[in-house]
Amino acid sequence: MSARSPGLGTMTLTGGYGRVDPTSAAAVLAHAAQQGVALVDTADAYVGGEELVASVRKACPEHPFRIVTKVGLTGRPGQRLACGQPGHLKRACEASLRRLGGERLDILLLHRVDPDVGIEISMSALADLVEVGKVAEIGLCTSDPQVLRRAAQAAPVSYVQAAMSVLAPVAARKLLPTARELGTTLLAFSPLGRGLVAADRDPASLPIDDARAHTPDIGRVGRARAEDFRRLAKHLGASPVDLALSWLTSLGPDVVPIPGARSREQVSQTLDAQRRPLSLDERWAIEAFVRAINDSPAAPEPTVLDR
Ligand SMILES: NC(=O)c1ccc[n+]([C@@H]2O[C@H](COP(=O)([O-])OP(=O)(O)OC[C@H]3O[C@@H](n4cnc5c(N)ncnc54)[C@H](OP(=O)(O)O)[C@@H]3O)[C@@H](O)[C@H]2O)c1
Repeated sequence: MSARSPGLGTMTLTGGYGRVDPTSAAAVLAHAAQQGVALVDTADAYVGGEELVASVRKACPEHPFRIVTKVGLTGRPGQRLACGQPGHLKRACEASLRRLGGERLDILLLHRVDPDVGIEISMSALADLVEVGKVAEIGLCTSDPQVLRRAAQAAPVSYVQAAMSVLAPVAARKLLPTARELGTTLLAFSPLGRGLVAADRDPASLPIDDARAHTPDIGRVGRARAEDFRRLAKHLGASPVDLALSWLTSLGPDVVPIPGARSREQVSQTLDAQRRPLSLDERWAIEAFVRAINDSPAAPEPTVLDR
């Protein structure tokens, strides 16, 4: 992957932040394909996500993109459970293959580390799927460098997925050095702080089916920090969305943001922003902003949604 091969997540399009009409979701994703998206993230836990991605890839053969899917999170939204048992992972892979079509999955990640199953056991099961040709590349979702290291001892880990943004930059400091040492590409999820980078969102005013209505880091600290970032962007004369995504891609070709988007306009902006170079002034200003968060005692690890 390169910084000029932008990524996109599909959780927003499958109702994670409130209902989206499936026809409109397909049109938005087709627009992303036409705009050159290179990597699209989904999961078996995103209801209808794999079907959506498969249908758009089929409908747009002239605009190919790779698909990341994730297994190992069971149950219903709001009541998710990690399941890293090899038998479950292998069955889930078969089910994802049926939904996505084709002979083999491009990229398969373990969605959650199951505390009752050693990470080595879950990752070895994914490695077996590579061995038999069902999956091309594998990885896992974790922000813990030690877990990544253990996973990489058990299996060839090509990708690690973790929350990372200008508002929650801890993974850039803690996880990225280990990922680099292991030759693992970091997929940055929630790179827009679940939308807070772009505009304030009061959890109390969000619809009940929007996961952000129930997410602690959309709370006071996250909103105040986001307001500071938007003020910085205004001072720099740039859009906060552009700055947040171009900062991530400026970290190197081994960092690929997977922003969520619900409209063609949001897709166009998030893909263009990943191709936009960051000026030196912007880089210095954002790095100072990020350093202040990392040095602050109130810098919590980002909350992981059960998504
Ligand atoms: N591995 C995991 O556990 C995990 C967890 C979470 C997410 N993910 C993946 O990461 C992807 C991205 O994460 P995310 O959706 O939480 O966060 P995000 O990219 O930080 O936020 C997405 C939201 O940002 C807003 N937005 C996007 N583009 C915009 C623009 N140009 N202008 C204004 N607002 C804009 C939209 O909010 P509105 O909807 O309010 O318009 C959109 O829903 C997901 O789709 C999913 O694939 C993985």
